[in-house]
Amino acid sequence: MNSMLAGESAESQPQVQAAQRFPATVGRFDAPADRAVIDGLVRWVEERYREDLLKRPSKHVYVRTLPGPVIERIDRLRDSPLIRSLIAARVVAQFPGGSVIAPMKHTDELYVSHYNKDRGGDQGLFDRHYDGNLRFLPGSVVVRALIYLQSDATYKVVFHDSRVEKAFATYDFGLLDFHRELHWVEGQYNPADRQRILLKCNYLVTRRNAALLGRATLAANTGVFYVVKAAMEYSKSPTTPPQIVVGLLCNLFRRLNNVHPLIPLAIPLAFIGAVVAAFGWAIGHLTT
Ligand SMILES: [Fe+2]
Repeated sequence: MNSMLAGESAESQPQVQAAQRFPATVGRFDAPADRAVIDGLVRWVEERYREDLLKRPSKHVYVRTLPGPVIERIDRLRDSPLIRSLIAARVVAQFPGGSVIAPMKHTDELYVSHYNKDRGGDQGLFDRHYDGNLRFLPGSVVVRALIYLQSDATYKVVFHDSRVEKAFATYDFGLLDFHRELHWVEGQYNPADRQRILLKCNYLVTRRNAALLGRATLAANTGVFYVVKAAMEYSKSPTTPPQIVVGLLCNLFRRLNNVHPLIPLAIPLAFIGAVVAAFGWAIGHLTT
C-alpha cells in the first residue's frame, strides 16, 4: 500500500503499479550527424514560423502536415537507434514475452512553446498531470519522446512516479509513459522567455503476437489524443467565452484524471444520458 508523503495530495499518489509503467528515461543526441539534423530543423522552424513566434504564446503543428523533406529529418530522430533501443530495453519488464514498438506517426507534433499561465488549455504544463487517461487499459504502453530541438534548461520537468527530474537543454530528450507518469514543469515563470522548440513523438508498445489488441489500443489512443489535443489547441490563451469555458474544462478534466482516469470519461457520458432522458421524458409528456 502506498503511504501519502507530507504535502502530497490524493492527485499525486501513484495510480498504477510501477511494474505496469514505462520508467521515465532521459538521454541526449551526441552524434554530430544527429545534432546537424536538429540544428537544421531549428533553422527551418525559426524561418517558417517567424511571424507566429512573435505573436503567439505556443504552437502545436502535426508533423504529418509539414513538408516532405522536414518530415524526413524528423523521421531520422524519431526512428533513431538511440531512442528505439532505450525503449526496447525499458519495456522488457512490462513485456517479458517480447513486444512490438509501433511509432504513432499520425499523432506526432512539432511544439513551439512559450510557457504561459493564463488558465487556458496550455496551463497544464505547470500543473501536475498525466498526458493520457487510458492507464486502466492492460497490455499496452504508450511511450512519448520529448525531443528538445532548442531549449535553454531554465525549466525543470519532474517525472513524479519515476522519481526523475531534468532541466532539458538543446539535444536532450526524455521518454515517459504517456498514460501513467504524473509529471509537471517547474521554474520561475518568465513571460519574456525565448521559445523552446521540441518534438513530441509517440510509440505504441504491445505484446508480441497481439495484433488485434494492438489495433484496438491504437484506435482508443488515437481517439483520446485527437479530442484532447483539439480542446487544448482551441482554448490556449482563451479570449472568447466558449474558449474560456473549454479551457476551464480542460483544466478540470486534467485534475479529475489525476484522481481517477474514468471520471473524465464518465462525466460526458452522464451528461449525454441526462439529455437523452430529458428528451424521452419531454416526448412522453407531450404524447400523453
Ligand atoms: Fe505533459
